[in-house]
Formats: sequence, C-alpha cells, structure tokens
Amino acid sequence: MQIAVLGTGRVGSQLARGLAAAGHRVVLGSRNPDARAPGTEPVVPVRSYADAVADAEVVLLAVPFAAAAELLVGLGDLGGRILIDATNPIGVDTAGRTGADLVAAAATNARVVKAFNTIGAEHMADARFAGGAAFALLAGDDEAARDVVGGLAEALGFEPVHLGDLATARHAEAAARLWIHLVFARGYGRDIGVGLLRRPIPPLSTARSTKESQVSKKILIVASNPTVSAQTGWPVGFWLSELTHPYAEFVQAGYEVTIVSPDGGPIRPDDYSDPRHESGYSADDILSLGFLSSPRHAGLLVDTVALSQVDPSGYDAVFLVGGQAPMFTFHNDERVHRLIADAHQQGKVVAVVCHATAALLKARTPDGELLVKDKTWTGFANSEEDAADAAVGRKLQPFRIEDEARAITGTNFIVQRAFRPHAVRDGNLITGQQQNSGAAAARLVIEALGH
Ligand SMILES: NC(=O)c1ccc[n+]([C@@H]2O[C@H](COP(=O)([O-])OP(=O)(O)OC[C@H]3O[C@@H](n4cnc5c(N)ncnc54)[C@H](OP(=O)(O)O)[C@@H]3O)[C@@H](O)[C@H]2O)c1
Repeated sequence: MQIAVLGTGRVGSQLARGLAAAGHRVVLGSRNPDARAPGTEPVVPVRSYADAVADAEVVLLAVPFAAAAELLVGLGDLGGRILIDATNPIGVDTAGRTGADLVAAAATNARVVKAFNTIGAEHMADARFAGGAAFALLAGDDEAARDVVGGLAEALGFEPVHLGDLATARHAEAAARLWIHLVFARGYGRDIGVGLLRRPIPPLSTARSTKESQVSKKILIVASNPTVSAQTGWPVGFWLSELTHPYAEFVQAGYEVTIVSPDGGPIRPDDYSDPRHESGYSADDILSLGFLSSPRHAGLLVDTVALSQVDPSGYDAVFLVGGQAPMFTFHNDERVHRLIADAHQQGKVVAVVCHATAALLKARTPDGELLVKDKTWTGFANSEEDAADAAVGRKLQPFRIEDEARAITGTNFIVQRAFRPHAVRDGNLITGQQQNSGAAAARLVIEALGH
C-alpha cells in the first residue's frame, strides 16, 4: 500500500519506519523536504506534503494539532483517500468538539480514521509490550477505511479495536490524555502502553514462561544529554556499548529497563562508539549495531524522559552510562549526584561506568560525605586516557578520573590493564572501568539484586 506520512517528527518518523519495515511504500511529507536535522538519516523518501500525497492511497497526519487544519486546507481535495488522524488536541481549545471532528472539517473528501494517538511515538513502530499488544483505537464513519487502518495497526504490533463512528474518537482522545497523565504527571515513565486485558486467566504453567513468571526488577539507565566538549569543541554524547551491553544483560535477566537522561529529549552516542562511524573504532560492536538497526530500540534514544519526570523509588537499580559527555554533564550535575546518593542511601543498587564516574567525584551522602568514602571502586584509567589521546593526537579530557580519584583520601580507587573488562562491587555500589566493562557491571547488578 502507498502511504504518505505527513510530519517528520517523532510520530511521523516512527510510523514511517514501521510501516516501511512492514512492506508498505511509504513517503514522508515535510514542510522542508530538503532540510534534515543533523545526524538524522532518511528511512524513507521525504517530499513536499502535496507530492507525498499525490500517489498515496492512505494519508497519515502526524503534525501538531494546531498545524493540521492549515495543512489539510492546503492539500485540497483528497479524492476519497483514507486520512489517519494521529494528532491530539493538547492545550488547544476545541470548543467541545473532538480533534478528529475538526480534522475532518478541514479535510476535503477524505475518509477520516482516528488512530495511533494513544501511546508514545517511540512505541509506534512496534506496539508489543510485556503484557500484550497496545490497542490501536479506531474511530471513523467508514467501516472499510477502519478495516484498512486496523490492518496497518496489526502490522505494527497493535491490537486494532474498533470504537465506532468518528464521534467515538472522543474515547481515543481521552485514552491519549490518560497515557500522558500517567507518564508525565504520575511518573510511570514512557515505557507503558494501554491495551485490553482478557479473562479467563490461562493456567500459569502453560501461559507464562519461567522468565515471565518472575517478579520483574526495574532498572533506570541514565545516559547523558548531548553537549559540546569544552576541551575539543566536538559534539559529545554517551558511549553506545555502555548502554546497549548492559541493556542486553538486563532484558535477558527478565528485567524492565527504562532509559532516561537528565534533561530529557534525544540522546546521541559518541561518534567513535557508533559501529557505523567511518573511523571503524567500534565496528565490531555488533550488539550496538543491532540495537541501532531495530526501530523499537533505536526509538528509545529518540525522546528520553527527563529525570524530573521519573520517580526513582519505583526502580531497583540505577545505572549511569559513561561516554565523553558525562565529563561535562554528570560531573557537576547535582540532579545526577542526588539521584545516585539517594538511591544508594535507600539500599538500591547504584552502578556507574567509565567517564560517568566523574559523578562519583562529587556525589555526597546526606551527611555530607563523598559517596565513595571507604569504598573500592574503578573508573576510566590514566593508561586508557593516554591511549585515547594518542589515538586522536590531542588531549581529550579536561581532567582525568584516576588523577582526581587518587587525590581523594579515604577511598580505594583501583584499575586493571587498559581496556580490559573490569567491574567492581563494593556493597551496593558497582563501578566499571571503561567501555568494555558495561556488561560486567550489569552482571554485578544482577548478582546484587539476587537475580
Ligand atoms: N510524541 C508522541 O509521543 C505522540 C503520541 C501520540 C500522538 N501524538 C500527536 O502526533 C502529532 C505529532 O506529534 P510529534 O510528537 O511527532 O510532533 P513533533 O515531533 O513535534 O513533529 C511534528 C512534525 O510536524 C511537522 N509540522 C508541520 N507543521 C508544523 C508546525 N507548525 N510546527 C511544528 N511542526 C510542524 C514537522 O515536520 P516537517 O518540518 O517535516 O514538516 C514536525 O517534525 C501531534 O499532534 C501529537 O499530539 C504525539
């Protein structure tokens, strides 16, 4: 099926990616088809809105609600095409009408179906959750059109649920408000979906695998927001393997993982940690390559939740990812210091790897002591800084973790041979030396949590 997805933002890009992966011919429509945000790759062709719609059988609206009417009026006669309305009229006075009703009023000769508005964009290319599929609530006057959209939803892993005519879109818009309330006002995190649960309960022995029947532990992975290195002027981010390798360990242990960042929004890996980078530095990191190639997983990096939106009490462990950026972000970020100090104080497991240990140079317990006081721990070694500086021919970091750690009295900082996997557990504090130590640190977290 030929589909035009209008809007190249979070919802548009995820749905375009998922629908293309399901075998549909997808074109993205954009206000500026030639402009692209730095670092983003086109997953499908990008055209003007009118060109994208020209050959399409189905048009999917994924722009801010406030921009929808003008766009639709500009498109003119839609020739009976199916128009999927994925927008939500958040913060807009609709004078008691549904958003779908206003979209339908602005569209000429379109069969409008409300759909894909009830969960976060990052789940739309793959709507399967631990408890089953999220529902895709379908509202539209034309039943055949709803069936078509239901088929598209199914291909993305949703369970299609027909609400009825377009007036019933009010239920779909209410479901979106419920999701937003749970995520942003109640701190449930974005990794939740809304769907139907059914009776009867299948017998445990056949319905659940051993893994599923375990009480799931919850891990909060915190990666740095992107910044610019004050030392080199390069854009810097988190180190990919330090996120993906622990992620794989945790999900294989049956844990639920939430990836967040201090400020929220998109996060980006350091160039040298990206297996696709021209340097080839991380070319053998096939786990990270797989993570980036999977729409659902890559989507976890597109729009992270901010720490302020997270309730850390709901997690069993906190895991700080290293990379180049934490030397400039985590190092002086009191939100990060407080997160790990409080979590440690509450007996939760705190893991910090590589340059994220810059946070441990400053994090203090409520009684004012450094968190690492009397602790044995590790972090990026001077021998590794020497090797990294030599590889790029310049000094990369403004200071060195090992120098700073050794200057602290009453703490035991240890390192092993350069770039060898090395993780240390001292009580509930777990540290990893560098980028090859993420999995080892994650395994110690699993051990500390009692599996
Ligand atoms: N984010 C979610 O999790 C989520 C979930 C369910 C539903 N929704 C709904 O889906 C719609 C799209 O949300 P989104 O999160 O994808 O938004 P977004 O990331 O801000 O992207 C919206 C896209 O719409 C296009 N656009 C056209 N006119 C615009 C304007 N005047 N201002 C800004 N962008 C404009 C832009 O693409 P071009 O520049 O390429 O034209 C932009 O990238 C919204 O109605 C939202 O309520 C969002």
